Amino acid sequence: MPVQRIDEAPERIVAPTARNIAEERDEASLRPQKFADFIGQARLKRNLKLAIDAAKKRGDTLDHILLYGPPGLGKTTMAGVIANEMGSGLRVTAGPAIERAGDLASILTNLNEGDILFIDEIHRLPRAIEEVLYSAMEDYKIDIVIGKGPAARSVRLDLPHFTVIGATTRTGSLAAPLRDRFGHLYRLEFYEPQDIEKIVVRAAKLLQSKIDSGAAEILATRARLTPRIANRLLKRVRDFADVNGDGFIDPPTTHEALKMMEIDELGLDPADRLLLTTIVENYGERAVGLNTIAALTGDETATIEDFYEPYLMQIGFIERTPRGRVVTKKARQHLDKPSFKT
Ligand SMILES: Nc1ncnc2c1ncn2[C@@H]1O[C@H](COP(=O)(O)OP(=O)(O)O)[C@@H](O)[C@H]1O
Ligand SMILES: [Mg+2]
Repeated sequence: MPVQRIDEAPERIVAPTARNIAEERDEASLRPQKFADFIGQARLKRNLKLAIDAAKKRGDTLDHILLYGPPGLGKTTMAGVIANEMGSGLRVTAGPAIERAGDLASILTNLNEGDILFIDEIHRLPRAIEEVLYSAMEDYKIDIVIGKGPAARSVRLDLPHFTVIGATTRTGSLAAPLRDRFGHLYRLEFYEPQDIEKIVVRAAKLLQSKIDSGAAEILATRARLTPRIANRLLKRVRDFADVNGDGFIDPPTTHEALKMMEIDELGLDPADRLLLTTIVENYGERAVGLNTIAALTGDETATIEDFYEPYLMQIGFIERTPRGRVVTKKARQHLDKPSFKT
């Protein structure tokens, strides 16, 4: 059962993180299991295939892998794919779930030779535990303390050879010694719209719904270049098509549904537009600090950094400068246009 952070802004349809436990469960059924089903991220797949083939040929375990990038781009999915391709056991946990060194020790001592340990949100591991982890990653040994008080003694245990796959939205928050233990560091990129389109078509097939290529193309431009959002929009549009028609997802139905959800041509929702217009109204073309933006909109700075900004920067609507964030001309032009085609 994957342990994931639940979105801090769950009411947003375009949130890049899973909105609740039910959605997490649903997502599992759409997850690609093999490289062949994993659409896009060509460079990442090429590098990982090479590493996997080499490890298999040598009869070795895979070197530790760190996957980073914005939420919803396939980090958890890729960890599963790697385990399948290696034919390894997969153990899943998350940074916030490991509170004491003993929690980590019991996970590590229960691994089998060659297993993969996926640690989601690895940047949220407590510092003291990071230390235990990186020494275990380094030499497959762990020191545990047995007993209490004066009788306490430290015992060194041998661990099986295992592979850590860490996932994080922020490599910056990872302690350098931990980061250095990863032989492979890969960034997941936003997807090309054509790849999102393929992901939508694949998901529609798995959900047994009929969609025409025009509708898939529309969804692909609204999904913020993010597979998780593409799948969520598809499900919403499917509901709309079931209720208001015969279930067939065509372009007019898709436009109607998106309009109802207030998602515009670029996948922006009212919260994005509010963020951008608030900055423009107060600062125009001048740079503004993250804390000021947070104060203006009433959001946490982390919400702005993890949920709004990656996509807005990707499409060139926000730029980060040494003096703060700037809303670009391109964004201002978009905001001036009416939001929806009627
Ligand atoms: N390359 C891909 N091809 C098809 N579906 C994908 C792909 N990457 C992600 N998905 C879908 O998007 C959802 C979210 O992916 P996930 O791996 O949980 O993202 P992350 O861990 O980076 O937040 C998954 O349910 C999966 O079905
Ligand atoms: Mg994940």
